[in-house]
Amino acid sequence: MSANRDINLAGVIGWPIQHSRSPRLHNFWLSKYRISGFYVPLQVHPDKLEVAVRALPNLGFKGANVTIPHKEKVLDIVDECDPLASRVGAINTLYFEHGEKIVGANTDVFGFTQALCSGSENIGLDNAKAVVIGAGGAARAIVVGLLDLGASEIRIVNRTYEKAVKISERFGKNVQPIKWQQRSESLTQCQVLVNTTSLGMIGNPALDLDVSELPLQATVMDTVYTPLMTPLLKTAKSRGNRVVDGLGMLLHQARPGFAHWFNHDPRVTKDLHAHVLSDLDMISG
Ligand code: ATR
Repeated sequence: MSANRDINLAGVIGWPIQHSRSPRLHNFWLSKYRISGFYVPLQVHPDKLEVAVRALPNLGFKGANVTIPHKEKVLDIVDECDPLASRVGAINTLYFEHGEKIVGANTDVFGFTQALCSGSENIGLDNAKAVVIGAGGAARAIVVGLLDLGASEIRIVNRTYEKAVKISERFGKNVQPIKWQQRSESLTQCQVLVNTTSLGMIGNPALDLDVSELPLQATVMDTVYTPLMTPLLKTAKSRGNRVVDGLGMLLHQARPGFAHWFNHDPRVTKDLHAHVLSDLDMISG
């Protein structure tokens, strides 16, 4: 027998986990770049999160992604948390250093900024005003992304106003809470609008938002990707706004983890889009 060789192993921890597209996209990259390895779905009950995370380095995993509902709870489990994950208040990627130390990172911010800016010569967010609909974990990562891109005013619109207030307290005076009833007026002079709620997803009602106050130069992004063209994006596109669907953020957030675990910086390409999309078609169809 030859000497032990490292097995390239990673996975995604969630509860439930069947919905996750991460195995499909990471295994596509493993095969495309001819890296022998496996990326597996790991269904972990919230009560077993710590035991499961602690076991992974011992099982030979290089790292893992973390998804709903564990992204916040895992902050208390890791040995070290990178500054960006602490700032967002959520971890979506784990690195196991030297096969034992567990380091938490957040790549959703990277995924968001890459998706928002890709395909655009210059989205120019310096001093821009932005509106974010929703105040959950995705909204926090997007607020950090918008601030880092130079936005000077971010309006958080949420059904539960107190949660919008909490986000504004966390990120400072450039982030303002807005009442749900004022969502349409909040779009005045806004250059970026992002929906982070599940409204517009297959099986859910559409986001009820009158966009007539939204400038035509504004970019509209939806984090929902089933369907790819949500009712919000359809309306925005029909009046001439630039639109960004939710698939780009999903694909780009996966890049830093893959690069770190498998030593290869992967690309978001048309064939990757098509591969993940064909699976999404099956879900929606
Ligand atoms: P995530 O981590 O993916 O952002 P989350 O933390 O569950 O998910 O947040 C979901 C967001 O969608 C919340 O802002 C939620 O609003 P509330 O804070 O009022 O619960 C929003 N949301 C979900 N369903 C909604 C609905 N029917 N109408 C308006 N907002 C909704």
